[in-house]
Amino acid sequence: MAGFGTVGQQVWKLLKEHRQLLSARLGAELKIVKVLVRSPHKKRLMALPKELLTQDSADLFSPEIDLVLELTGQVALAKKLAKSAFALGKAFVTANKALMAEHGLELSEQSLKKGVDLCFEASVAGGIPILRSLREGLAANRIQSLYGILNGTCNYILTEMEEKGADYQQVLEEAQRLGYAEANPRLDVGGWDAAHKLALLSSLAFGAWVDYRDFLVQGIQSISALDLEMANRFDYSIKLLGIAKDLGGKLQMRVQPTMIPKTSLLASVRGVLNAVAVEGDFVGPALFYGQGAGGAPTASAVVGDLVAVGRRLVANRSAIVPPFGLKNKLNQAKLTDLGELRSPYYCRFQAIDRAGVLAKITQILGKHSISLASVYQPLRHEGKKVPIIILTHEAKEKDIQKAHTLINRLREIPGPNTLIRVEEECP
Ligand SMILES: NC(=O)c1ccc[n+]([C@@H]2O[C@H](COP(=O)([O-])OP(=O)(O)OC[C@H]3O[C@@H](n4cnc5c(N)ncnc54)[C@H](OP(=O)(O)O)[C@@H]3O)[C@@H](O)[C@H]2O)c1
Repeated sequence: MAGFGTVGQQVWKLLKEHRQLLSARLGAELKIVKVLVRSPHKKRLMALPKELLTQDSADLFSPEIDLVLELTGQVALAKKLAKSAFALGKAFVTANKALMAEHGLELSEQSLKKGVDLCFEASVAGGIPILRSLREGLAANRIQSLYGILNGTCNYILTEMEEKGADYQQVLEEAQRLGYAEANPRLDVGGWDAAHKLALLSSLAFGAWVDYRDFLVQGIQSISALDLEMANRFDYSIKLLGIAKDLGGKLQMRVQPTMIPKTSLLASVRGVLNAVAVEGDFVGPALFYGQGAGGAPTASAVVGDLVAVGRRLVANRSAIVPPFGLKNKLNQAKLTDLGELRSPYYCRFQAIDRAGVLAKITQILGKHSISLASVYQPLRHEGKKVPIIILTHEAKEKDIQKAHTLINRLREIPGPNTLIRVEEECP
């Protein structure tokens, strides 16, 4: 095992506490032989026999070892460990989404070529066994769509802002104090962690490699307490959603804060919890819900992978389950242009409270064939900055983006201005 931090220690605890149960399920014992760490003398919550600790990664590859488990969170080191494991015919299990989103295509090709297991269940949605469900339980289906709340930090922040009417910065700081957000939260609040996970989910669901750098990724940093209050007034919730849809061979993909009807199932996913809604052609809708992070739930997913690999080894089966569910190499996915996508939009403009300003906004929207469903100005302060809220009818993404850019340039509208897509059909 490489790494003995939040997840590594819980894996150790789980293997110890469920030794008998796991032996009964597996028909063999899972034994940790060596644990690679950076600082062997660091004080840790879980005590580990001293002889197990090492700083030398070569110790993970002795002949008695069948499987290398990577829980360091480092990308370059993890890639090196995976390559060494494959070269020596040892299975590789990881919880590292950044590793898989960056190098998953290359690693899965190596795993297939060498006939060595590559498992990464814990890298998406923590304890929820969504990858195995897509790869095995739903293997009979053509997957039509995926909707995911894939980042617990963002979901916690948006839930707290909605429930307490608090501002983004204030809730982010509270989340950091409670350990729900990293000291450097960029990957989470910027949408990149969710993008890594959506790319992996989609590669597996649609059988083509999706690069997270190829689709639209927006974070939650510009969402204000007022946006959540207004969403509530219009009977919506705001969620950081990862959405992937198969539109007949091309994928429509994005990660962005999205307004969804309060009555949708995903609107009821609160706090740090995660959920993935899948639609398959034979199964219809299926919803997976649970803890997307935390040492114990993540350890549950990691050990699930250890058991899956262990069962194959115990049964002496040489054929592996392909990491992305296809026996052949994955092709690159083709993505659609989002410009043609039609949806209603929520716009918040910070404008100088002066006669004629609203007319200027509606004129620009009208010129771009965007009609208004609702206009709301909650405050009045003659000559000062006030928010103007507009909910549009369905409009093309490229039209609303053009109009928004033009409105942003008006002197009377100094901003910051926000645009949020409304997804009426959300499960
Ligand atoms: N935490 C979660 O809730 C969660 C959820 C899902 C997935 N994951 C994934 O699980 C993985 C582990 O996360 P974590 O939260 O357990 O991380 P963590 O608490 O930061 O622990 C990382 C461990 O890796 C060791 N390590 C780091 N760099 C190393 C290096 N260069 N050489 C040797 N050892 C090194 C550290 O050693 P020292 O202890 O000596 O510093 C530490 O034991 C990550 O890929 C993460 O994305 C985590």
